[in-house]
Amino acid sequence: MTPKRAVVTGGAGFLGSHLCDALLGGGWSVVVVDNLLTGRRANLAHLQNDSRFELIEQDICQPFDVGRIDYVFHFASPASPVDYMLHGIATLQVGSLGTFHALDLARKYGAKYLVSSTSECYGDPLEHPQKETYWGHVNSIGPRSVYDEAKRFTEAVTMAYHRYHKVDTRIVRIFNTYGPRMQLNDGRVVPNFMKQALRGEPLTVYGSGKQTRSFCYVSDEVDGFLRLAKSDEHLPVNIGNPNEFTMIECAQLILKVTGSRSELCYEALPQDDPKQRCPDITKARTLLGWEPKIDLETGLRLSLDYFKKAVAEETSGR
Ligand SMILES: NC(=O)c1ccc[n+]([C@@H]2O[C@H](COP(=O)([O-])OP(=O)(O)OC[C@H]3O[C@@H](n4cnc5c(N)ncnc54)[C@H](O)[C@@H]3O)[C@@H](O)[C@H]2O)c1
Repeated sequence: MTPKRAVVTGGAGFLGSHLCDALLGGGWSVVVVDNLLTGRRANLAHLQNDSRFELIEQDICQPFDVGRIDYVFHFASPASPVDYMLHGIATLQVGSLGTFHALDLARKYGAKYLVSSTSECYGDPLEHPQKETYWGHVNSIGPRSVYDEAKRFTEAVTMAYHRYHKVDTRIVRIFNTYGPRMQLNDGRVVPNFMKQALRGEPLTVYGSGKQTRSFCYVSDEVDGFLRLAKSDEHLPVNIGNPNEFTMIECAQLILKVTGSRSELCYEALPQDDPKQRCPDITKARTLLGWEPKIDLETGLRLSLDYFKKAVAEETSGR
């Protein structure tokens, strides 16, 4: 029997590359379409000799056709605040034009479709924790709007293709995820703290450090994607770890895991930075039987070797 074939847009990125590993492990053949804007070939280097794997370097804001396909996983988009602020227009384009093209591909081949949306759709939420039914509290013109509104539009186009064209769609609202292959300099909390701790530099905490975040380890997150991919749920599903930590608690855990003696230093909170963000995962629990298994300390330990290597490579200028 011919193996099922999936396309992963953005597959050279952090989450997309882990998704490729999981799909290949499950017997799929995988084609990645990625323009390497924020992703890296190195994330897929271990797959280059696998005959079931292919990487096509292309911007999905241009129409693309990879041939017969059974599943479209649409993950292309700058995702970290540093990246989407730097590539604001490209972020809006991939969320809009890129999403149309990914959906057109699914429609052409009658393929199933899953898109990566985000907790940023909830903005700076007034409800806590956030359920999928919460419509959000989003600033449509602030600096983060290039990402937040792109993703809200992505969801809208996806639901429209489902309703008007009967495309078999799914939407995952991803909350903060961490693990190996994250970019070291993408401004997210875990790589920032890891890098500073491993270099013996002070850990930068924004605001009072009492704002909370919840972080999901990448293997748990990908397990959630695959379960949703197999389901028939068309409305958004939160996938994230509801265990909350203050930024100070997270910094202290990273000091423990790395064995670093760095101190904490405090800086002003960036504009529009949400003060609290935490998923309500009741829907994922009941519908998909999914919940995260890896606690923050374990996930940080599982990520440590990667971050040590990344810091060493950066220091040696590679
Ligand atoms: N990492 C998280 O915590 C998180 C949280 C919420 C949502 N998400 C979503 O998950 C997806 C993947 O995020 P990530 O953390 O892996 O980010 P990433 O930056 O590591 O990966 C994104 C990938 O998309 C590619 N890309 C961007 N624009 C493209 C274009 N026009 N054409 C082709 N490829 C393009 C990049 O080169 C990169 O490989 C994104 O859609 C993001 O919005 C991630």
